[in-house]
Amino acid sequence: MNGYKLRAKEILSGMSLQEKIGQVTQVNFDAKDIEASCQMVKRICPGSIILCWTELGGNEKQQQVRREALDLLQKTAVEETNSKIPLLFGRDVIHGHHISFPVPLTMTQSFDFELIERSYDAIRQEAVADGVKWAFAPMLDMSHEPRWGRIVEGPGEDPYLGSMFARASIRGFQTDDYTRPDAMLACAKHFVGYGASEGGRDYNHTEISDYNLQNNYLPAFRTAVQEGVATVMSAFNDVNGVPVTGSKKLLTTVLRDQLGFEGFVVSDWAAIQQLYTFGSFCEDAEDAAKTALQAGVDMDMVCNTFYDNIQTLMETQNITADDLDRAVLRIIETKLKFGLFDNPYTYKGTYNRNEHLKLAEQLAAESIVLLKNEDSILPLSGKETLSCCGNFIDEGEEMVGSWSVDYDPSLVTTVRRALLNAAPSLRLTNCDEFSVYKRSAIKNSDYVLVVLGQERSVSGEAASIAHISLSDSQRSILRAAHSSGKKVIGVLCFARPIALGEDKELFDALLWCGHGGTKAADAIADVLFGKVSPQGRLSFTLPHDVGQLPLYYNSLPGSRRINEYYNDVDPEHSNYYDCTGAPDYPFGYGLSYTKFDISDFSCDCSEIKTADLKSGKKLRVSFKVINTGEKEGVCLPQLYIRDLKASRIRPLRSLIRFCRVSLLPLESKALYFDIDLECFGFYSELGEFIVENGEFELYLGENSLAENKITVKLI
Ligand code: GLC
Repeated sequence: MNGYKLRAKEILSGMSLQEKIGQVTQVNFDAKDIEASCQMVKRICPGSIILCWTELGGNEKQQQVRREALDLLQKTAVEETNSKIPLLFGRDVIHGHHISFPVPLTMTQSFDFELIERSYDAIRQEAVADGVKWAFAPMLDMSHEPRWGRIVEGPGEDPYLGSMFARASIRGFQTDDYTRPDAMLACAKHFVGYGASEGGRDYNHTEISDYNLQNNYLPAFRTAVQEGVATVMSAFNDVNGVPVTGSKKLLTTVLRDQLGFEGFVVSDWAAIQQLYTFGSFCEDAEDAAKTALQAGVDMDMVCNTFYDNIQTLMETQNITADDLDRAVLRIIETKLKFGLFDNPYTYKGTYNRNEHLKLAEQLAAESIVLLKNEDSILPLSGKETLSCCGNFIDEGEEMVGSWSVDYDPSLVTTVRRALLNAAPSLRLTNCDEFSVYKRSAIKNSDYVLVVLGQERSVSGEAASIAHISLSDSQRSILRAAHSSGKKVIGVLCFARPIALGEDKELFDALLWCGHGGTKAADAIADVLFGKVSPQGRLSFTLPHDVGQLPLYYNSLPGSRRINEYYNDVDPEHSNYYDCTGAPDYPFGYGLSYTKFDISDFSCDCSEIKTADLKSGKKLRVSFKVINTGEKEGVCLPQLYIRDLKASRIRPLRSLIRFCRVSLLPLESKALYFDIDLECFGFYSELGEFIVENGEFELYLGENSLAENKITVKLI
């Protein structure tokens, strides 16, 4: 048994029942009365203090974190209590701290996970210097639901990207040496299936088959555990009628026995209380505390259900001493593993804010997706005259995104100011809906710039919406701009996917910018003027109409040829009488200011023994990319696989590899992907990995509709 496990057992052996009950309890404190809060710490000896004071933390102002206050509380815990166990201070550091980076759904559009890891390293430096030791992030909920506000907090619709995001963010937070005083604990959340909330209605029921769970909702958590994530947060939702926070199958059998998780599980906000107050799953508070503890929840976030009921449960022998000790041990082991006993006080560190601002701008710019560029209108020279309109032309702060509780507004600029900063010769004239009709107001303009967006409060927690298209006023200004006869450049700043539908035809050039964080506006200017070539690719599907939902690229084939996503439909069948079954823009889609040609797609063998793959042999697929245009650009070749016949129906396409390659005009590069056993298999309902012989199609291209195809056979 390693050192910290032995030491944890020693610490546990010296703890009273009350101290153990305190350790499995997370509370918040009254920042306005530190003396009273210190008395609370002495009385309760809580395992953790959450630096969040409202139930909907993501879009509400939170009290500022003050290091001095945290150190006073910590001093009380480690010097003035018997157990002397340090407190763990947790905060929702989701995609930034004083500098907000793009919301996760936007940043995964960059497909640049090396940059994302560096960004989370910067985020860590800022948060830990403020005294925050534990981030309630990354949020790893894969989702097909643009109506669900929290889709913006997660990595999108693809399990492979979700795994890449888990790896990058956890490494950024936890560093490669957990004992560093400036390392943070990460928290993989919300385990599991929250993104499948029925109808996109937050907190709703989820129906997820074990097969779907294992192959779509678990992969990012599987990677998080492999990366040594310190903690996991149990979700609010139920899966097939059993609330996750009360599910021994999910929190113990799947998370621990199957995935091998060794840290501790914290419930989501009052999720244990919800087992009896909202869900009709537990009888009362005592029953809820027993159920959650025995299911595998180790710490109770803010509802005191553990604190109020565990002693009685012990006295009535409804739970055993082992039930409680198991939870306490996991918490203490984790605190020891992260050096909290050796360095309990806040880290007095500094960081290079300008470096972080540059990172935030680079990531925001790389995350911008060019959806249209008729007649190569873009990039602009910066000497144009633009008539500009739209609800986000003078916006900046709304793009820092939901769950930006500590951002510094003084660092944020608006789209208008960013454009003029980037191009002083640019002439911007305002035009409203009427002036664009009155052509006189814009006759001297080169283009009409329409900047549209959705406020950050219409995303995040408890922010589901049923209509995911442009608003009436946005559509009206767009139609006016289009009718002006001038070409229309669109800049869309929506954190969640929206259904543009026919409106997309009204743009001549179109940038999809998401919510790009503190430097969102500057990044828009970078791309509009070509300082950064557009290189983002959609990490989710942009549907044509909300009526198509759920619509995602890696869906399973139907029982007949009805896959309009891939334009593969029998003549006598159609997806809908009244709507296309195809998306406006597919997963992985994004244009550049130049053109690329991908050719010479081949595989080093068309057949391979499954046994050889199992012994570690890899298949190499090779190809060539050439920049056939006149500008430098970044190509993002993507490799997808389809298992043509298996004991479970497999997705039409699954992303298995991609790379980012920057090419000068006419430059070409020979590239390759090595693919291994992991690419060919899937998980059974019980979580065993299965690879079956048979034919597989590999598709290579610049998005999920890739047509370059080769077939390989496992024998
Ligand atoms: C919220 C969220 C969770 C967050 C926690 C603390 O309700 O569901 O993601 O980390 O409570 O704010």
